[in-house]
Amino acid sequence: MTALLYFTSLLLVCRGVSSIDVMRYASVQYSILYYEFVDSSGTFYPSYGYPLDDEWKSTTATNGWTQGFFPGVLWNIVAYNATRESLKRAIDVTTPTAAFANNTGTHDVGFVIMSGFGNAYRLLKLSEYLDVIVTAARSLATRYSPIVRCIRSWNSPTGYLVIIDNMMNLELLFEASNQTKDQTLYNIAWQHANRTMYEHFRSDNSSYHVVEYNETDGSVVRKYTAQGYADWSTWSRGQSWAVHGFTIAYRYTKYQPFLDKAIGAANYVLTHLPSSTDLVTYWDYDAPHNSTLAYQPRDTSAAAIFASALVELSQYAPTCNLKDSFLANAKAIVDQLSTPQYLIYGDKDYKLPALLTNGTMGPYPKSPYDVSLAYGDYYLTQAIVRLAKL
Ligand code: GLY
Repeated sequence: MTALLYFTSLLLVCRGVSSIDVMRYASVQYSILYYEFVDSSGTFYPSYGYPLDDEWKSTTATNGWTQGFFPGVLWNIVAYNATRESLKRAIDVTTPTAAFANNTGTHDVGFVIMSGFGNAYRLLKLSEYLDVIVTAARSLATRYSPIVRCIRSWNSPTGYLVIIDNMMNLELLFEASNQTKDQTLYNIAWQHANRTMYEHFRSDNSSYHVVEYNETDGSVVRKYTAQGYADWSTWSRGQSWAVHGFTIAYRYTKYQPFLDKAIGAANYVLTHLPSSTDLVTYWDYDAPHNSTLAYQPRDTSAAAIFASALVELSQYAPTCNLKDSFLANAKAIVDQLSTPQYLIYGDKDYKLPALLTNGTMGPYPKSPYDVSLAYGDYYLTQAIVRLAKL
């Protein structure tokens, strides 16, 4: 079966079309991955991969932070065009990740559970999915410090570390609170977003990646980067997490400063893209990409996360002009990502069953770059589904 799907994929590639139906192509590419998952007895979760390889680097259902994005893509395929088969695949791949809901050792429980079970519950409203979400939210809440007024991101013996990415985990708390009326979960999420709004941004609404707090008195110790170009620079994916995270925080709270922050952070992106026609960001907004001396890779995952956030943010924009501008930019970014320049598609000897290439994990060059990232594919398909449902 796997060989047949691979052959089908090659046929699509050989047609050489320039305008690509990404969701149809996602069904093909992710069919291949689904059968790899089946062949592995449910232990294969693609994480990142090199376009010329035929295998993703993978994780398991309960390891790392990326395993939710594989089920997430399958749920986006269901949301776009549900069939009995696509639904079965999404459920099969989501189910093994349930055990991660009990993990109190990482803030990433939000990413993992909401990409799989969050989408499953939104689409199917089954109470067993809600149970997993609530369990995961209670796990995440154990990482909250009322002194720091934030959820701990990374475990470190030397400091209380919070990264901008953590804004994305708040959806888990807000959704669980919404469904259970547990006000504590809501308060934790609100406090985290509020403190992040004050501490993680510069006056131009660019973001710091990491803020280290003093756990004893809650004061800020230092602000720096772990995945960006420099402590003072703006890591592109971090800025996309900021836009997406504050958009979600506004969705659940309707607290105007969260909307203002999401809009401010989005405007930072829109005024720092490579050019008015080149909309796929380099991996860090401050990396010297205009220099002829140094190669700087793009980060298609940052572009996809931003585009998806912008579709939702456009719905909350206070003026018609802003709404139209956000939507037009989201569509233009998705269109650029949907070309053979950034897709694993066409005549470039690509072998990886994936959608986007040119993702950068960060920091460059220490971590993999010009690769496919599970979250790039997830947020690209989420953006396309969101645009289709407008
Ligand atoms: N949340 C980890 C990353 O964006 O790389």
